[in-house]
Amino acid sequence: MSDAVAIGEIINHHAERGRMLHRSLEAIYDTLRNFLVADADGEVLGCVAVEIAWADLAELKSLAVAPHATGRGVGAALVRAAIDDAHKLGVRRLFALTYVDGFFARHGFERIDRRQLPSKVWTDCVYCPKRHACDEIAVLLDLGRNGDDPPQDPQEPA
Ligand SMILES: CC(C)(COP(=O)(O)OP(=O)(O)OC[C@H]1O[C@@H](n2cnc3c(N)ncnc32)[C@H](O)[C@@H]1OP(=O)(O)O)[C@@H](O)C(=O)NCCC(=O)NCCS
Repeated sequence: MSDAVAIGEIINHHAERGRMLHRSLEAIYDTLRNFLVADADGEVLGCVAVEIAWADLAELKSLAVAPHATGRGVGAALVRAAIDDAHKLGVRRLFALTYVDGFFARHGFERIDRRQLPSKVWTDCVYCPKRHACDEIAVLLDLGRNGDDPPQDPQEPA
């Protein structure tokens, strides 16, 4: 709970510069259980969230590193922690919508056509000023076989 304000400050610092979506403090509290933070002596240096979308699919989102802490491996450590978390949850595929696809490529994520993602992942878009001209890149990491066959999403074609 004590990290929520710092998470919001880091995300919104980057959101104000057009790098990611703004998050209200209310939205952060609502999803606080999804978050992992990088911590140095009690100071939050960065955050990432893993949000389950469907039985075999989760989104890595809200990846952000404090401006004074970039370039020191914090972002890479957060992505590794998110992948580990997704793996522990039994998620098979982890995706992100991003402008830094080159950063994600270093962790094995591959570019995909975003129309491959289920429609329910676009719910945040209503809050985005670029919703009618989205230029984010979809990247996906296949975590391999990780549990039983998932049920089919009833909203998606087989
Ligand atoms: C992108 C971001 C998370 C990277 O975090 P970071 O802590 O600065 O990155 P790291 O220090 O862990 O970088 C690890 C490696 O990735 C490389 N890298 C960093 N940003 C990169 C980018 N945009 N494209 C390609 N490679 C990148 C680094 O050069 C470093 O390489 P090295 O190991 O050979 O030295 C951070 O800059 C950030 O918060 N950006 C703004 C918010 C954002 O864009 N979030 C992503 C939303 S999906």
